[in-house]
Amino acid sequence: MSRGLFITLEGLDGSGKTTQINRLAEWLKKRGKLPVVTRQPGGTATGDRIRSLVLDSRSAGLAPLAEMALMFADRAQAIAEVIEPALADGRIVLCDRFTDSTEAYQGGGRELGSQVVLDLHRLVCGNLQPDLTLLLLPSLEASLARARRRNERIAAQSGKDEGRFEQELDGFYGRVREKYKEIAAREPERVVLIEGDLSIDEVQQKIAEAVAAHLWRFACTPSA
Ligand code: TYD
Repeated sequence: MSRGLFITLEGLDGSGKTTQINRLAEWLKKRGKLPVVTRQPGGTATGDRIRSLVLDSRSAGLAPLAEMALMFADRAQAIAEVIEPALADGRIVLCDRFTDSTEAYQGGGRELGSQVVLDLHRLVCGNLQPDLTLLLLPSLEASLARARRRNERIAAQSGKDEGRFEQELDGFYGRVREKYKEIAAREPERVVLIEGDLSIDEVQQKIAEAVAAHLWRFACTPSA
């Protein structure tokens, strides 16, 4: 059986990744491909516990290196438990965030630099690379306003606190955005940059075009 296709979605908080990943999953299903959809941090039982730890505002004072190590612990578990088995089975994997997030947020935002992230990725993740990365970069103002509103709504509805990153100041997010752009410029073959405040339908159209262009190259066998 041929290996599956590994697609990641990346972008700032509130960039609309979740809406787009759901739409992309539907788009693929209509074409007979049932994708495995997952997210980071999270997506496994262990990963969900790491997620609550790193995203909770009460985890104040988490050292940047500790934060990065937790992101990689989560990722190593997800690769072993979900991503590799699905790819080996010929499936399409849609992953909401992957190592580009660590490079952008911890490497850029927390100023740890790219090198340590890329080194750890080689050591901890066997240097697994996505076949295609869709990078959504709306303006900083639009995405952050959306992310903060969403976290307030979730906190009010469920009492769940996932707002630790959204409390960061705009300087942090400016660095995250710049690092994302640097990654896109460094790896244009892998990363499709969708920039600007486009409508949900416009972004979906661009994503569909990029994925369609990749699909013919991979003999993904859909499984139920
Ligand atoms: P996510 O739930 O995808 O947030 P959103 O839906 O708002 O995009 O991700 C949670 C947060 O975790 C987000 O602020 C980015 C951060 N993060 C990192 O800092 N490093 C990482 O390696 C990952 C995967 C996420």
